[in-house]
Amino acid sequence: MNHITELVGCTRVFAYDLFYRHNPTMESTYTIESINRADTPARLIEELDHWMAIRFKSYVWMPSAGEKDVQFILARDKASGELIGRCPIITREITVGGQPLTITAVAGIIVKDELQGQRIGDAMMKEAMKYVEHASPKFCVLMCNEELARKYARYGFECIEGGNPWFDQPGGVRAQYKPNSGVTMVYAKDDAVWPEGELDLKGLPF
Ligand SMILES: CC(C)(COP(=O)(O)OP(=O)(O)OC[C@H]1O[C@@H](n2cnc3c(N)ncnc32)[C@H](O)[C@@H]1OP(=O)(O)O)[C@@H](O)C(=O)NCCC(=O)NCCS
Repeated sequence: MNHITELVGCTRVFAYDLFYRHNPTMESTYTIESINRADTPARLIEELDHWMAIRFKSYVWMPSAGEKDVQFILARDKASGELIGRCPIITREITVGGQPLTITAVAGIIVKDELQGQRIGDAMMKEAMKYVEHASPKFCVLMCNEELARKYARYGFECIEGGNPWFDQPGGVRAQYKPNSGVTMVYAKDDAVWPEGELDLKGLPF
């Protein structure tokens, strides 16, 4: 049943892409850009922070949080230039089974509420995957709810076993995702095999 649902979903995405690509009158109303944090003006970082709900502030990874390397995939309204979506890809050294592993991670993709469902998230994810493919880490990780897992499977992410990682909280507090609080998904490049063992995000969760 799940396979049939997935197949129907994939076919719909394909048909949708085909329709838009071959229908010049349906030109998109947004642009997608990819910018490294090092080249991102401070004011834009602030704006990106603002996109995270205030209630999450400092408990989850924020664009203003220090991180070795961050690439922002941004969606803007073509006419006004307004930011309508963001998808940060962070590069971080985590541990799996106590062994260090450098990964990329999709750290909170968000599309403006009133524009959701118009394939802006899909366009950002496609751009994000180009970056992930080009970056050196062999694995890309994300955390999401089970409903969204179906969506990410389309980009090659698979759920991993025991995906309730440890993570850091402000003030040196350590915490662990509860079982059933969501799923951890991994995209593996070049047939790389995800190592076994407990996952420690070694920083704020994303
Ligand atoms: C998740 C999100 C980024 C998707 O962006 P979007 O532009 O709305 O999505 P798209 O229009 O590209 O939709 C792509 C597919 O994902 C599905 N989808 C979108 N949001 C979804 C959600 N919250 N749960 C499950 N599926 C979702 C759509 O139904 C669509 O499926 P379809 O092709 O079968 O119709 C956006 O809905 C969002 O910002 N949500 C709130 C923040 C959030 O939950 N972020 C994810 C953190 S892991």
